[in-house]
Amino acid sequence: RWNMGSFAEEKIEQIKKIAGNDKVLCGLSGGVDSSVAALMVHKAIGNNLTCIFVDHGLLRKDEGDEVEKVFMEDFHMNFIRVNAQERFLGKLYGVSDPETKRKIIGEEFIRVFEEEANKLEGIKWLVQGTVYPDVIESGTDTAQVIKSHHNVGGLPDDMQFELIEPLRDLFKDEVRKVGLEIGLDENIVWRQPFPGPGLAIRVMGEITDEKLKIVRDSDAILREEIKKAGLHRDVWQYFTVLPNVKSVGVMGDERTYSHLVGIRAVTSIDGMTSDWARLPYEVLDKISSRIVNEVDHVNRIVYDVTSKPPSTIEWE
Ligand code: XMP
Repeated sequence: RWNMGSFAEEKIEQIKKIAGNDKVLCGLSGGVDSSVAALMVHKAIGNNLTCIFVDHGLLRKDEGDEVEKVFMEDFHMNFIRVNAQERFLGKLYGVSDPETKRKIIGEEFIRVFEEEANKLEGIKWLVQGTVYPDVIESGTDTAQVIKSHHNVGGLPDDMQFELIEPLRDLFKDEVRKVGLEIGLDENIVWRQPFPGPGLAIRVMGEITDEKLKIVRDSDAILREEIKKAGLHRDVWQYFTVLPNVKSVGVMGDERTYSHLVGIRAVTSIDGMTSDWARLPYEVLDKISSRIVNEVDHVNRIVYDVTSKPPSTIEWE
């Protein structure tokens, strides 16, 4: 298909022509697609692009700071980080149903984004990281960069922008190539898929600060060890979950009654089906002993050995 080097150059030229001196807005999640799209537009129009990054407090350990560092310090982008952690946690207080959590987070996300966008003046375009599979899915396969006056997923009717979608023709592996080509950090280019609702759907049931800390800290250990073992590009997704179950254990002379942490690691092509990753026992052993030793309130680790179907990748 495309030669990615010339693809990026041509697209950037095209964006430059289309946007001219207009102000452009981008919602940045830190995922591969939105990051590559934002960087391409930045290369085309520089500081006429403003990126909004909503930190909903449900990100992985240090993720918000990493995203901020890459776009603000490395690329000197016009970057707004909205620290909305308390707002989201407040809305989620006492909520345990997974679909309700998703709905609350989705709605709040749009509200926060809209509030920030409203503070900016004269925005004409919105950048979206739409990739080819999304285009096929939505049934609007017109090989254009721009779709006019499209009402963006859930934004109110009076908030209309024209869209810049630089990745509409690309599959994921091509997006990654373009990302590397234009100098995006490998950690972002090879980032594993991460659900919009984030850690909220990896803490089963009600979300509390303490539970979020357990998934966040155990997940960080898991990721560190998978990377150390050189497995981070072979495994599609790997994360920990907190099923909200306590079990009995023993520590020194003491009986403990603490949390169980589940490890999920899967291989997949597109997330539609998956198999559990055959992680080496030594790697699992290392992860398990590090989590129980380093993360408070955890005394037992289990490994999820189900495929999708009948399971799903996430536990909620
Ligand atoms: P499941 O759990 O359905 O997940 O097998 C398939 C893929 O989708 C991701 N996922 C989500 N992504 N919002 C998202 O943006 C969601 O609510 C959501 N739920 C699941 C999941 O991480 C996996 O990559």
